[in-house]
Amino acid sequence: MKVLLFCDPGIDDSLAIIYALMHPDIELLGIVTSYGNVSKDQATVNAAYLAGLAGRYDIPVISGAEFPLSGENTVYYPEIHGSQGLGPIRPPGSVQGNYQEFHYLYKIIEGNIQDLVIVDVGRSTSLAAAFNLNQSLMTKVKKISLMGGAFLVPGNVTPMAEANFHGDPIAANVVLKYAAEVVISPLNITNSAIVTREIANFIYNQSASPFKNLIPPVTDYYSAYYQKMNPGMKGAPIHDVIPFYQLMNPAFVLTKERKITVLTCQEGRGTSEADLRSSSRNDGSKRFIGLQFDYRHFISDFIKIMVNKV
Ligand code: BDR
Ligand code: CA
Repeated sequence: MKVLLFCDPGIDDSLAIIYALMHPDIELLGIVTSYGNVSKDQATVNAAYLAGLAGRYDIPVISGAEFPLSGENTVYYPEIHGSQGLGPIRPPGSVQGNYQEFHYLYKIIEGNIQDLVIVDVGRSTSLAAAFNLNQSLMTKVKKISLMGGAFLVPGNVTPMAEANFHGDPIAANVVLKYAAEVVISPLNITNSAIVTREIANFIYNQSASPFKNLIPPVTDYYSAYYQKMNPGMKGAPIHDVIPFYQLMNPAFVLTKERKITVLTCQEGRGTSEADLRSSSRNDGSKRFIGLQFDYRHFISDFIKIMVNKV
């Protein structure tokens, strides 16, 4: 599967990048970096750093948005992801990479329009801008997969809103309005995509990959935050890996097809709404919400990919 990834690495974004780089059936054609967990500039360095660890200096790292469409100041999350986004890991200030300006993404999309999937695991500002600047091309992209939303379950930045949709609800609505097809991985499933320190250590011990040294420290850092917030929690949810898992293993994720709206009003900002009453039916909207998944299958798939034994 050919993928163009939009992200804000960030620990779980980084694990998603590593998963995509290591997956034998995913061809990562480019990484668009934006503000979110860290600043746009830091996200860009981190993406290039990770691609470089695998010797993938060829992968374009494309500069995206610095703030949401509303123009508001952004809030970063060093307490969750570390001051530079990779927990205790400090990538060098300047990193070799195939850095590209924003318009370069159209070259990738045009050249692969027949079978390209876009995955967005950050605030959707850059993706919404891509629609705004070239609607006719973007509406031809066959599938877009988003990590975002919380449907009838608690949010993670407000009681009702998930961080990506809350960070730029206007952008999320632009994508939901214009995309041909959207597959959503919301907190309903990503909250349960837990990786423990034991799993991280197992991957470290079994793997010969260039990423192995990174896995235990970032998992430790990430887990420490989640365990502080939720005493008793064993590990941390790697939200951003789920869109890739869901795309590659659709049979293991239960989805419902429903029109989705993201609230933009102050009190409800970022809340994702869909009609999930038991009387409601798939509505032909081509917006597929992931609501349940098979954790055991997920975690064995994750380990298999991360230790490179597929
Ligand atoms: C999402 O918010 C970000 O902080 C994470 O990287 C993930 O994309 C989870 O709500
Ligand atoms: Ca993210």
